Amino acid sequence: MGWTADLVPAYLAHTRNLASSVRFALVTRALLGNLPDRPCEVMDAGGGHAVQAIMLARAGHRVTVVDPDPLMIDEARANLAGQDAAVRDRVRLVHGHVDDAAGEFDVVCCHSVLAYVEDPQPMLTRLVALTRPGGLLSILALNGDAIAMRSGLSGDWAEALASLRAGRQVGARYLSSRPDTVGDLGGRLAALGAQVRTWHGVRVFTDHIDDDVSGAELADVVELEWQAGLRDPYRGVARLFHLIAERDA
Ligand SMILES: C[S@@+](CC[C@H](N)C(=O)[O-])C[C@H]1O[C@@H](n2cnc3c(N)ncnc32)[C@H](O)[C@@H]1O
Repeated sequence: MGWTADLVPAYLAHTRNLASSVRFALVTRALLGNLPDRPCEVMDAGGGHAVQAIMLARAGHRVTVVDPDPLMIDEARANLAGQDAAVRDRVRLVHGHVDDAAGEFDVVCCHSVLAYVEDPQPMLTRLVALTRPGGLLSILALNGDAIAMRSGLSGDWAEALASLRAGRQVGARYLSSRPDTVGDLGGRLAALGAQVRTWHGVRVFTDHIDDDVSGAELADVVELEWQAGLRDPYRGVARLFHLIAERDA
């Protein structure tokens, strides 16, 4: 396992479908609801194609994207080129590993990265160190408690059963990835000096849908997913969980 350049085309191919639109809308909404009401310095560790950075920059925050994959940085550069100058100016792209990143940030994001890291501990340690005391960590991870849901809802019974038994996503269609759980990640962060403030489920109903939807319908879907992602038991069976933690002051 581990992120390699050959995963980029497969990842980018899925970044404009319904599931991706829902994910970015929900994560941005949760973040903006928790960030202080002033422009923040944000680090997006493994920020890839900078879609999340652009959404935060549009809300007035300054974002440093750190990513070791040159193809993802190229994609980020292309995405930024299509933005207003004010948004472009608030996003900085750094080609490199999070281990080499320096500084102290109001908010440190790490979205859909831990799934490609064999051992999450070194990265979590680094992420907490990059967060200023009292600052926020935003982590989006694959929900290991509900790993069979996608295959099951897609009607692939054998794959769902194999995934349930293995405790990870099984199936040739998928990038090799490692799930986490809210309990384990929350415990690791607490031990590192950051307490979970809130967590949401991301994609309860739409994870297995490949099609796109437009305008008003998308707004309804996002609102439905937002409401479900806040509540038990729905959030517990979402594909992803979005955890926001606060570093001890
Ligand atoms: C699935 S993509 C997610 C991109 C983006 N965060 C998003 O949410 O769409 C995973 C990203 O993690 C990056 N990555 C992998 N290992 C990393 C590391 N050690 N430090 C920083 N980024 C890393 C990859 O280069 C890739 O861009």
